[in-house]
Amino acid sequence: MAWTKKDPAQLTINPFTLIGKDWFLLSAGTPEDYNTMTCSWGALGELWGEPSVTAYVRSSRHTFGYLEKNGLFTVSVFPEGYRKALAFCGSHSGRDCDKAAETGLEPVGIDGTVTFAQARLVLVCEKVYAQDLSEALMTPEVRGTFYGSDAMHRMYIGRILAAYERT
Ligand SMILES: Cc1cc2nc3c(=O)[nH]c(=O)nc-3n(C[C@H](O)[C@H](O)[C@H](O)COP(=O)(O)O)c2cc1C
Repeated sequence: MAWTKKDPAQLTINPFTLIGKDWFLLSAGTPEDYNTMTCSWGALGELWGEPSVTAYVRSSRHTFGYLEKNGLFTVSVFPEGYRKALAFCGSHSGRDCDKAAETGLEPVGIDGTVTFAQARLVLVCEKVYAQDLSEALMTPEVRGTFYGSDAMHRMYIGRILAAYERT
């Protein structure tokens, strides 16, 4: 099955289940040199008149460096049956292992960046904004629950350049 390029406005997806329940892989780089990690926080919507994605990445992630040095990233969503692969990519670091070799996910180039052959939906994004979340602006409850000694999240906003869906 091939991917079909879609206008993001044509996608029939529920962002709450897609992000929070199904999860996605956030990837940056090229098939030769990339990193990927599982995300379950984020947003899909509109910013500055463009369809956009927001992702939140702790600075301690190996993927963080790839997001910093690349202008493009992808959001890849998988069919049922890839839960174990996503759990692996969300609990191991690319610093210590080859996630593709361990999971069977196959990195492939797409529009100058990287996704995986098994993805059912791919959003190719251009990084248009990045900023660390500010501890000063969080409630004490959020700060205490999520940050203590853990690294801060950086918010990445990507303009969706292309959406591809398996048909
Ligand atoms: C279901 C799930 C959701 C996750 N969501 C996020 C997220 O939104 N942001 C984040 O920084 N880390 C998130 N993580 C943690 C990273 O995926 C995890 O630390 C990963 O091993 C980082 O890999 P890396 O060091 O190769 O980048 C999540 C993990 C899981 C299992």
